[in-house]
Amino acid sequence: MNKQKGFIPGLEGVVAAQTRLSRVDGQRGELIIAGYPLAELAGKATFEETTFLLWHGCLPTQTELTAFQTELAQLRPLPGATLTLLQAAARKQIPPMDALRMAAGTLSLDMGERDAPQMAQVITARFPTIVAAYGRLLGGETAVSPDPTLSHAANYLYMLTGAAPSAAQTRALETYLNTVVDHGLNASTFAARVIIATQSDMTSAIVGAVGALKGPLHGGAPGPALDMVFEIGAAERAESYLREKLERGERLMGFGHRVYKVRDPRAEVLGIAAERLFAADGDMALYSLAKSVEKTAVALLAEYKPGRNLQTNVEFYTALLLHGLGLETALFTPTFAIGRIAGWIGHCFEQLENGRLIRPKAAYIGKTHLKWQAVELRTSQ
Ligand code: ACO
Repeated sequence: MNKQKGFIPGLEGVVAAQTRLSRVDGQRGELIIAGYPLAELAGKATFEETTFLLWHGCLPTQTELTAFQTELAQLRPLPGATLTLLQAAARKQIPPMDALRMAAGTLSLDMGERDAPQMAQVITARFPTIVAAYGRLLGGETAVSPDPTLSHAANYLYMLTGAAPSAAQTRALETYLNTVVDHGLNASTFAARVIIATQSDMTSAIVGAVGALKGPLHGGAPGPALDMVFEIGAAERAESYLREKLERGERLMGFGHRVYKVRDPRAEVLGIAAERLFAADGDMALYSLAKSVEKTAVALLAEYKPGRNLQTNVEFYTALLLHGLGLETALFTPTFAIGRIAGWIGHCFEQLENGRLIRPKAAYIGKTHLKWQAVELRTSQ
């Protein structure tokens, strides 16, 4: 069935867009974000700078940056109806990605007519407010109002905890958001492009992208990767624990990647960011354990799966970093969305600028000569 001429399952290897936003080189382990190697940008830029870069093609001047930060900060508060919806969702303990999808569709309620660039700012500014409010509501707490004097990343941590974060915590989150901001034509980005290519609106494109990111094959497995480190508990248990898993034919979470056949460059950047965060907090125990689990896992994967080049992926250090920032596991994927939204929107701008309606073909493999039967004559098949 899959051998039909021209049919490529999953569109693997098909080039379906041109972009200036990111280049993923899985053989060399290289990720370029709008011209900058990831390691050059992620640990230095604020999230606002990276977002501006993706949307405008260059880093902002000081004047542009101040204006952009101010505009985003003013847009952070949610419409009352969005908060009411989040409260109702929390009473039913709806998973955070579903709550984010529902709330995202309501973000323009208090805005009137807005064009795509204006809606882009509204949605980007309000995603952290939704996720932080929902995280607190799920835990039985009240939402914390945004603080316009804080940066996008610092304000997200503030709204989660009610306390202003340290410089090290803010830097760690900025680095994380920059690291996941864009990654080629991944499934959620493609979904956003397909929707906006019909000349639909920005909100619809982002709601679709959230729906795609929610799926476990995309939003990833940072939770299970962290659970594994906790279950191992001590470096000397790593080898026996991981060996047993591999002997049972199980996969080690946080290792292997469809595209990267060397170490995921995002793991490198996040590993360094996690080390700095844990060092600043003065407790390196979990970081050291994770490092030794990683070393053992990579060695055992080479032994059990020779030639497969199974290396650490982005999820492993995402888990460690976000846990170090005090985030609940349930908020890991929505926090990924808070970073990736800048990429989704950048791709929507590109698509609006020069894209065609995305309309591939399907190869029909059904019957062709059936005859109509009156309903009373039909039997179930
Ligand atoms: N642990 C053990 N074995 C593995 C792992 C792993 N983490 N990853 C791949 N393998 C093995 C497979 O069992 C397979 O072995 P076989 O040929 O003997 O059957 C071989 O390596 C190739 O595996 P595929 O599934 O074909 O490789 P693919 O490129 O499709 O897999 C994937 C990529 C799904 C990420 C895989 O490596 C995996 O399941 N990893 C663990 C889960 C994880 O970390 N997910 C997050 C990925 S990052 C992201 O989504 C942003």
